[in-house]
Amino acid sequence: MDLAPVKKLHIAVFISGGGSNLQALIDACSDPDFPAQIGLVIANRPDAYGLKRAEKAGIPAIIVDHKAYENREGFETALSNALNTIHQQHPIDLVCLAGFMRILSAEFIEHWAGRIINTHPALLPKFGGPGMYGTYVHEAVLAANERESGASIHYVIPEVDQGPVILQQSVPVLPGDTPETLAERVIAQEHILYPEAIRILAEKLL
Ligand code: GAR
Repeated sequence: MDLAPVKKLHIAVFISGGGSNLQALIDACSDPDFPAQIGLVIANRPDAYGLKRAEKAGIPAIIVDHKAYENREGFETALSNALNTIHQQHPIDLVCLAGFMRILSAEFIEHWAGRIINTHPALLPKFGGPGMYGTYVHEAVLAANERESGASIHYVIPEVDQGPVILQQSVPVLPGDTPETLAERVIAQEHILYPEAIRILAEKLL
């Protein structure tokens, strides 16, 4: 008996660096029952290691280097063009920011309202906002003597890191933690939560 094929969200993943969250999404998408597939990876840095992960997985990837554009408008036009190019084969249903270290304009975000999400390495609304990214987040958590931190997957709205949280998981801050040891504990949770969040979005958007 033929089973109906699983309906899938077509997602675009925006990265700036190592792309371990991208890898978690690639791994999740390798399960035929996972309700999403990655149509496009966009990196704003030509040296982003995540580009190699995309290549290895056979996923189309494009570099849109913000430094090549005079202003944010030019950069975002190039991002939209990249999304539209792939759109002609498969419309992109959802944009997933995964360690993407550029702030997007309200215009760009509003175009994708309800269809653009991000992973953040803290328990939002704590330790979010402009300047709070990557290791700065973990440094701030340790400096504030927090007893816990965590990972948040949230909708992107124009106010940085203030969009509704979709999923969150806390982790303890342990004695002797450094930004690196804390980051490791947090990112392990991001890798679990991000595919789960996409499952939730698939229920809504498909
Ligand atoms: C992740 O911890 C992600 O939450 C963080 O950068 C790391 C990227 O790792 N993003 C931010 O701080 C954005 N505000 P990855 O490139 O290995 O996925």
